[in-house]
Amino acid sequence: MVSLIGKNIDVAASLLKVGKLVAIPTETVYGLAANALDFEAVVQIFSVKNRPTFDPLIVHLLNIESLETYVLKIPQKALLLLERFSPGPLTLLLPKTSLIPDIVTSGSHFVAVRIPSHPMTLELLRKLSFPLAAPSANPFGYISPTNPSHVFDQLGGKIPYILDGGSSSIGVESTIVCIEDDEATLCRFGGIPQEEIEAVIGKVKVEANFKAPGQLKSHYAPKKPIILGNIQKNVERYNKDEIAILSLCTHYEGISHQIQLAPNGSLETAAHTLFSAMRTLDCLPVKYILAESVPNEGLGRAINDRLSRASS
Ligand code: TXA
Ligand code: MG
Repeated sequence: MVSLIGKNIDVAASLLKVGKLVAIPTETVYGLAANALDFEAVVQIFSVKNRPTFDPLIVHLLNIESLETYVLKIPQKALLLLERFSPGPLTLLLPKTSLIPDIVTSGSHFVAVRIPSHPMTLELLRKLSFPLAAPSANPFGYISPTNPSHVFDQLGGKIPYILDGGSSSIGVESTIVCIEDDEATLCRFGGIPQEEIEAVIGKVKVEANFKAPGQLKSHYAPKKPIILGNIQKNVERYNKDEIAILSLCTHYEGISHQIQLAPNGSLETAAHTLFSAMRTLDCLPVKYILAESVPNEGLGRAINDRLSRASS
């Protein structure tokens, strides 16, 4: 199969209508989309990604009205979050209606729903009479793609079309929140900081490993080992030719391969560059990548979560 990269939303819509897969841009990362209501189409997502079927998919919708068709109820806290953060990098786990096939939720009664904010994907959803199931468009366990060429490098030849919406503005996946009996649990750190969620609905429980079965300890991982810890100390332990460095903003003398995620220290910039930087370092002729955690606040929590899974 030849994979085309293009900006034609009608082509993407036509393919999706006949049960094919299309990579779609979102503000977080690129998704590998199929008609969420079509069992055969959804099965292909799992096979192209090599993803186990116990790991459920997020359903992408146009707006709150269309969401009402696919969930049994929208609790008060969920509505507050939707009103404040949608369209945007927010995914809610809510009880599903029978319209959502069990394969999408891996048999769970809860479906993950999200209204993405990328204008091309919203335009695409407007042309479709069904929602889009879409995990990140990477092989299972590898780094998520934040531009069309990342998708092409790994899924080229396996999908017919990659809708080119430029580079993803946020760069880390959506924040996942489960609302059950009006109690909110944060299940994945992501593009909306915990502090901002709590400013709207009050304190949340954090169980970043519990509710989302795809949150395996080892994930988002490059092929080279990432060694997470104090870079200055670790630099002394390794041969300088064998290492590359991934830091927030510190430059290390005498090391040829290094990337600063955000020279000005901004966590937003760091989130935006993180996955691209991990891919670049993965391709260098070194043995190890030395990295260190960033301040654990705002988007820093999502960055630290990805770094720690990538290093597991
Ligand atoms: O930003 C994002 O959320 C991106 C873009 C493409 O929207 N999508 C994304 O999908 O990151 P994925 O499949 O790579 O990660 C979704 C996570 C997985 O950890 C999965 O286990 C969890 O969400 N999840 C999905 N549906 C679920 C459900 N019904 N119950 C519990 N966890 C669920
Ligand atoms: Mg993923």
